[in-house]
Amino acid sequence: MSFDGALVRKDFPIFERFIDGAPIVYLDSANTSQKPRQVIDAMTSFMQNSYAPINRSAYRLAGEATDAFEAARSKVARFINARSADEVIFTKNTTESLNLLAYSWGRANLNAGDVVVLTHLEHHANIVPWHMLQAERGIVLRWVPLTADGQLDLTDLTALLTDAKVFSFTAMSNVLGTITPVQQLCDAAHAAGAIAIVDGCQYVPHNVTDVQAWGADFLAFSSHKMCGPSGIGVLWGREQLLDAMPPFLGGGNMIADVRLDGFTTAPLPAKFEAGTPAIIETIGLGAAVDYLSNLGMANVREHEMKLGSYAIRTLTERYGNDISIHGPTDIASRGATLSFAFAGIHPHDLSQVLDQRNVCVRAGHHCAKPLMRLLGVSATARASFYIYNDESDADVLVDALAGASDIFGF
Ligand code: ALA
Repeated sequence: MSFDGALVRKDFPIFERFIDGAPIVYLDSANTSQKPRQVIDAMTSFMQNSYAPINRSAYRLAGEATDAFEAARSKVARFINARSADEVIFTKNTTESLNLLAYSWGRANLNAGDVVVLTHLEHHANIVPWHMLQAERGIVLRWVPLTADGQLDLTDLTALLTDAKVFSFTAMSNVLGTITPVQQLCDAAHAAGAIAIVDGCQYVPHNVTDVQAWGADFLAFSSHKMCGPSGIGVLWGREQLLDAMPPFLGGGNMIADVRLDGFTTAPLPAKFEAGTPAIIETIGLGAAVDYLSNLGMANVREHEMKLGSYAIRTLTERYGNDISIHGPTDIASRGATLSFAFAGIHPHDLSQVLDQRNVCVRAGHHCAKPLMRLLGVSATARASFYIYNDESDADVLVDALAGASDIFGF
C-alpha cells in the first residue's frame, strides 16, 4: 500500500482532541508513539470477545486466545525477517530484552577480563546492564567514539573489537537520530569472534528491518514506539544462541518438567517467557505490525526522510546560528529525531513554552547521559517525527520557537 500522510493521521483518535481549542502537535514519538484505531480496536475486540489464558487450558476459548497470541509472534517474525517465530521472545520492552541478554548470555559466557564493546551513542538500557556485569564479573567495557557530526567513528573499530566477546550497539540513536551501519558492524563483530547485539528500539519503528540481511545475533525493540501498546517488547535471537542460553526468569510456562530436585526448560520461545505474559498487549503489537506493514516500512522511511529534511531546513533557515541541531546533517544518515539547542534557552523552559502551543517535545538527557556529556550539555530539546506528522507540524514548531525567543528575549 502507498503512504498517504493525511489518511494516516485520521487513523489516530488522539488527533481529534483539542487542548485550549487547538490541535495537538505531537513531536515526542521517540519517547513513545500514538496508537491507531486499528490497534485500539484489536485490543478492545480481543478483550470483549476472545480473552482467555494462553497455553494452559484445553477449552476452545483458550485455544483461540493461544492461536491469536502465537499469530502475533509470527507477524513479528515476518516483520523483521526472522527465520522462525521460535526466535521471537516476548519481553516487557527493549530494556528488559537487553537485561535478559546481559543476565543470561552474559553470565553464561563472560568472565573477568572479557571485553564488551559499546558505543558513545547508547541509551542507558544498553549501558547499565553491562555496568552491572562489570561490577559482578570484572568484564572490560570499550567504547566506539563519535565523529564531530555524531556518527560512529569506525577508524579504530578493528582494534576496539580485538578479543571482544560482545559488540552491542544501537541501530539508531534516540538523541541524535544517527542511523548506524548495522550490517557492517555485525560483520566486524563476527570477524573479531564477537556476537552482535542490535538495539533496534528507535530503528525498527521507522525502517525496514531484516535480521538475516544484517547478519545480527540478537535484536531488541519495543512495541510502544511502533504504534503498539506499552508493556510488550521483543528479543529476537538466533535459535542456536537462544537454545544454548540459560533461562532468565523461572516460573510457569518456561518449564518442561519440575521435580523436587530440579527442573528442565521448555523449548523456545517458552523457555524465556515465564509467567502469564502481556496477552492483550501482544495482540495489540500484532495489530501494530499489521498496520505498519500495510503502510510499508520503505514508505515510512521515505516519508520521514522528507519530513526530517523539511524540518531541518525550515528551522535553520528561520533561526540560523540561534539553533543548533545535533547529529548528522545528511538525512540519509539519520532519522527524523532532532535534538537541538535554541538561543541559550534551557530545554525545560523551551518545552514548557512550546507546550503553550500544544507542541509536545521531550526535554532532558534522554536516558543517554554519557552522550550528553560528550555533547557538553546537560539536556537537549528533542522533536521526533513519525508517520502521523506532516510539514504543518514542523511549521507550528518553527513558529512556536519564535514565541520562546520573545519570552526569553534574544
Ligand atoms: N528512550 C526513550 C526516549 O528517548 C524513552 O525518549
